[in-house]
Amino acid sequence: MRIDLAVIGGSGLYQFEGLQNAQRQTLDTPYGAPSAALVIGTLGDHRVAFLARHGEHHEIAPHRVNYRANIHALQQIGARRIIAVNAVGGIRNDLAPRTLAVPAQLIDYTHGRLSSFSDHPGSTVEHVDFSEPYTASLRQSLLAAGRQLGIALVDGGCYAATQGPRLETIAEVQRLRRDGCDLVGMTGMPEAVLARELGIDYAALCLVANWAAGCGAAGGGDTASSPSAISIDEIFAILKECTSKVPALIRAVLALDRR
Ligand code: HPA
Repeated sequence: MRIDLAVIGGSGLYQFEGLQNAQRQTLDTPYGAPSAALVIGTLGDHRVAFLARHGEHHEIAPHRVNYRANIHALQQIGARRIIAVNAVGGIRNDLAPRTLAVPAQLIDYTHGRLSSFSDHPGSTVEHVDFSEPYTASLRQSLLAAGRQLGIALVDGGCYAATQGPRLETIAEVQRLRRDGCDLVGMTGMPEAVLARELGIDYAALCLVANWAAGCGAAGGGDTASSPSAISIDEIFAILKECTSKVPALIRAVLALDRR
């Protein structure tokens, strides 16, 4: 089967608006079941697959996602490129809520996640090159799509993958900032490296839903319970605004293929 592009939807993105002739495909993999049925359909004459990373009703927490099953399932249906949509907190001062960014680097702070396909007896040990964790050409396609549509996308930045499901402490975010991280989310790893192990192009489209703990002009959010608390309701309200831009960006990425 030919799949021109796969999209993994994160928090706030559980289905792909406008996908035509959509068919659900329930797959199994040697690593277990993916987070949800794959939804395969068309955008114009392109075939697109969509997978809801947290399940279709956001029932799977970041540390419980079966990343290996998700990536393997996408490979099984013939996906050669993945655009991963990730909700994040903004650390860098110009990465305010509602910003969209295409990171260039990442640091993995997760632990205990099954993060390789080559970890069972008899499998060959692979040391994949991961110096550039995101595929340059796919990043550039996303950035070009943004320019074409007049949707501002920040080019670059370092994504910190944290364990979750809780949000970070202010001290943890200060450490991430010292480490050179610009954005923080819970699902960027091991997804990116698993795609690399299978030779699938992969780029992340990060939707900044909130200031990371202690960041931003006011030093964080401001709710009744705590002057620095982050409001989950507000995160989801902002994500709704951001995710509405995703289908157009994906269409524009696909349109670039023709050139
Ligand atoms: N931290 C980690 N993950 C997130 C955040 C955050 O502040 N916002 C959205 N996903």
